[in-house]
Amino acid sequence: MPQTQMSTVRWRIDCVVGARPNFVKIAPILLVLRARPHFSVRLIHTGQHYDVAMNSVFFEELKIPAPDINLEVGSGTGTEQTARIMLALEPVLTADRPDMLIVVGDVNSTLAASLVSAKLLIPVAHVEAGLRSNDRTMPEEINRLATDRLSELLLTSEEDAAANLIREGVAPEKIHFVGNVMIDTLYASVEHAVAPMATFAESWASPAFLAAAREQGFGFVTMHRPSNVDDLATLSAIIGAIVDVSRKLPLVFAMHPRTRSAVERADLKPMLQKGHILVTPPLSYLKALGIMREARLVVTDSGGIQEETTALGVPCLTVRENTERPVTIAEGTNTLVGTSPHALLAAVQDILTAGGKGGRIPPLWDGKAAQRVTDRIEAFLDGLARSKSEALAPTGLQL
Ligand code: UD1
Repeated sequence: MPQTQMSTVRWRIDCVVGARPNFVKIAPILLVLRARPHFSVRLIHTGQHYDVAMNSVFFEELKIPAPDINLEVGSGTGTEQTARIMLALEPVLTADRPDMLIVVGDVNSTLAASLVSAKLLIPVAHVEAGLRSNDRTMPEEINRLATDRLSELLLTSEEDAAANLIREGVAPEKIHFVGNVMIDTLYASVEHAVAPMATFAESWASPAFLAAAREQGFGFVTMHRPSNVDDLATLSAIIGAIVDVSRKLPLVFAMHPRTRSAVERADLKPMLQKGHILVTPPLSYLKALGIMREARLVVTDSGGIQEETTALGVPCLTVRENTERPVTIAEGTNTLVGTSPHALLAAVQDILTAGGKGGRIPPLWDGKAAQRVTDRIEAFLDGLARSKSEALAPTGLQL
């Protein structure tokens, strides 16, 4: 690196990612950080998600540079993943200590990286802090609670999040409302989204499916939460309801690997085949975005999709009893339908006849959240440096 460039670096930042939703959130942050020459940035991938469909295609489409380090931890239980990430990350951070570590979202990689960093006294910035479902049976809720507890800088995506943190005793000066980085990515990508018909054709859709989708439109389905897919009775009730919905509207079901293996274990493929459903592997970001944008409705249990549909103005039916993203209900297009097949069918019918719930874009979902994230990080590190230099300055006292 030329001398002039080297001398401008003031702060060394590590960003840790591991799973699909992390990639969508870190992309705009990396872009802004790397455009400011006083930051030197390292991207560390835990390897929690590792195959092309869940991982590499997101790096390509979102133009995320290859990770500087990959810990390659792979699959396992939540505890196994967390422990493996911790063991692999500690020597990396010890050998080359950053000034701050950024984590995003609520996956196992987020928690594991925060734990290691906090133990090494490297300050953690958590992007998407303060979201709470108040449901501790969700692995992500444990990850959110613990990550926020360990973080020095809590950067929130919606206004309700600050109240959750303050209720838990977090000092208000650590909390900053910056907006939603996932929506930065959405706005930057929407013009590059892939046309849905091209994705359907590529996914071997039958001529009958293509004709029906052209004529009636289509719905989009994703489902992967352990609470919905790991239990056979729950999963078969949900699949049964999805099949019923598909008799009213052709559906595209992008199936997560966790769901695919549960469907195979429970022998639910024949049930699915009775519906008007195009089952695809997990889709790339630009393909999913293209489908979502034009869908008449979305049925999901994903956190990110609840937000993306609100930004796109597409009705979303969330197959859960709660959400950590209440703004998508209060202001957006999201409705919680729980796991009752009747409630789902009634809500679908309502959308098909009346057009469904309208909504508006929540505050600071404006495509500039990553700028605010970076500004806050910079201000935090400048403040830290100032207090360190004041602590070292001579006091004037004579010993
Ligand atoms: C994880 C996150 C979840 C997020 C989701 C998005 C946690 C607790 N959960 O859940 O918040 O919404 O990612 O996808 O971190 N697998 C593959 N290929 C891969 C990755 C995983 O086949 O590239 C398989 C694994 O072997 C495993 C299953 O998918 O059997 C689940 O993966 P895992 O990372 O444990 O959790 P997710 O359900 O993906």
